[in-house]
Amino acid sequence: MDLPEYALEVSGLVKTYPAGKSTPPKTALKGVDLKIPRGSMFGLLGPNGAGKSTLINILAGLTRKSEGKACIWGRDIDERPRDARAALGVVPQELAADVFFTPKEALEVQAGLYGVPKGERRTLELLEALGLADKANAYVRQLSGGMKRRLMVAKALVHNPPVLILDEPTAGVDVELRRQLWAYVRKLNAEGVTILLTTHYLEEAQELCDTIAIVNRGEVVACEPTGQLLKRLDTRSVVVTPEEPLKAAPELKGFEARLRNGGAFSVTYRTGHSSVEQVLAAVRAAGLHIKDIATEDPDLEDVFMSLTYGDPNAQDPTRD
Ligand SMILES: Nc1ncnc2c1ncn2[C@@H]1O[C@H](COP(=O)(O)OP(=O)(O)OP(=O)(O)O)[C@@H](O)[C@H]1O
Ligand SMILES: [Mg+2]
Repeated sequence: MDLPEYALEVSGLVKTYPAGKSTPPKTALKGVDLKIPRGSMFGLLGPNGAGKSTLINILAGLTRKSEGKACIWGRDIDERPRDARAALGVVPQELAADVFFTPKEALEVQAGLYGVPKGERRTLELLEALGLADKANAYVRQLSGGMKRRLMVAKALVHNPPVLILDEPTAGVDVELRRQLWAYVRKLNAEGVTILLTTHYLEEAQELCDTIAIVNRGEVVACEPTGQLLKRLDTRSVVVTPEEPLKAAPELKGFEARLRNGGAFSVTYRTGHSSVEQVLAAVRAAGLHIKDIATEDPDLEDVFMSLTYGDPNAQDPTRD
């Protein structure tokens, strides 16, 4: 069988939610094009209300698109909806708990819905993989929020889909379990599963994803390999710890300093325009004695902020 080049492909995707009684219509996606290569670990990032869940819900068949085209595993969602959905596992952002089931039953029911024959079910393996084996026979309503979230991941995997979409899978999941969850997702990816994830933990996205798209107000504002995205900002910062801890940021000629914890301060400069030398010269010229310095490269958060909130025409992107 020919494998598709792209696990997910959307073009010209538009979604306008109709007006409510007291709310105007809302265009949540304004013609989105995205191609997610087979095998990639792809991060879809953006501020609250950017349109991430809308895009995911359209792929999952939970929301109808207004315009455009979407393919899952090479299968058009309009022309071959069943085949398209069969290739996809989705963990939606909203927690939906099957309160009358145990995790084991919930997975069996889900496998039944997808027509997975009894002999091919992986119920116990999935419970084990997601750290829920000891809760297999507990009522779902007795699980903690993080456990419910992991059960939803297990549910999304019962039919062994080649594409897995995780919408905020780590919201409310504690640090240790988050690590475990990501380790499992990484393992799935290494085995060939294409992953699309959204998260507001940008450090995690930076660490995990090979490619990142940033959406803002229904538009894709960046989509490139993570390393390339990080190089977009030509800024660096020098963190200076002076001999005498400072109580306020010092006045430096040609640079702006910001106070940090413990009486240190940072200076951000543009690499094309200035150098560490010049920053340090300005610090000395201000009469400060340097005890220690460190330099910092911009991280995903800096790039994210400059591409979303940094837009001078944008007011508050979370408001409409
Ligand atoms: N069912 C709906 N009816 C009307 N408007 C909606 C509906 N669902 C979402 N919206 C609006 O569409 C826009 C995009 O919402 P969406 O949930 O896709 O954002 P998101 O990027 O997933 O945000 P978050 O990071 O908060 O999860 C928002 O302005 C939201 O208010
Ligand atoms: Mg969302």
